[in-house]
Amino acid sequence: MTKKLLIACKNLSKTFSGLDEPIISKLNLDMFEGDHTAIVGVSGSGKSTLLHLMAGLEKASSGQVKILDQDIASVSQDALGVLRNTYLGFVYQFHHLLSDFNALENVAIPLLIRRESYKQAFKEAEGLLKRIGLGKRLTHKPSQLSGGERQRVAIARSLITKPKCILADEPTGNLDGRTAHFVFDLLLELSKENHSTLILVTHDNQLASKLKFQYKLNQGKLKKM
Ligand SMILES: Nc1ncnc2c1ncn2[C@@H]1O[C@H](COP(=O)(O)OP(=O)(O)OP(=O)(O)O)[C@@H](O)[C@H]1O
Ligand SMILES: [Mg+2]
Repeated sequence: MTKKLLIACKNLSKTFSGLDEPIISKLNLDMFEGDHTAIVGVSGSGKSTLLHLMAGLEKASSGQVKILDQDIASVSQDALGVLRNTYLGFVYQFHHLLSDFNALENVAIPLLIRRESYKQAFKEAEGLLKRIGLGKRLTHKPSQLSGGERQRVAIARSLITKPKCILADEPTGNLDGRTAHFVFDLLLELSKENHSTLILVTHDNQLASKLKFQYKLNQGKLKKM
């Protein structure tokens, strides 16, 4: 059976004003359904920029990003929102939790937006938070959680909808070694369970080597490792 092409970057470039060199330069990448890919690279090499371009959170200077064969530059903002909501889960490098809501609510919200019942949404959110080791932090607000705990809530929030594709930007960057491995393995396990495609940015070569494909981002281009 041939795998579906989920995200395709074609000749993708991004230049920020004030910088001489493009951060992303004529980059090509095909991500197929179910692939697990790590992207490594030094700080400032453009890893976050690349993930943002793929999710349509940032506009390309030239070239294309296609999600399921739709050029994201040619769809309306609303349609892009639907595409993102339906297919993508984004784990930000710096968590973007809603500060007025507790851990359970933060994780349940994506399901409530999809009109799941209140009861079902909270049941699923509680189950996932327990699995990620936060069963005793359900009613804590982000300000009452440690940095690593917040990051784990953010991971749970992006996985709760079982997205077809997870874009994770240093999801374990703020965690100590042991917790990083625990959370990383859980992220992999859940991606496999949900048959999700995973694109993960990390500084850690050891973690990167657990994924099927590894690329290094250097001078705007990806090289297979
Ligand atoms: N909005 C912006 N305007 C101008 N320059 C930017 C902007 N966003 C990012 N940059 C620059 O682009 C480069 C790549 O940034 P990016 O955040 O993608 O790097 P990164 O590889 O994710 O780094 P890190 O590992 O530190 O997270 C950096 O040099 C950064 O200063
Ligand atoms: Mg980054």
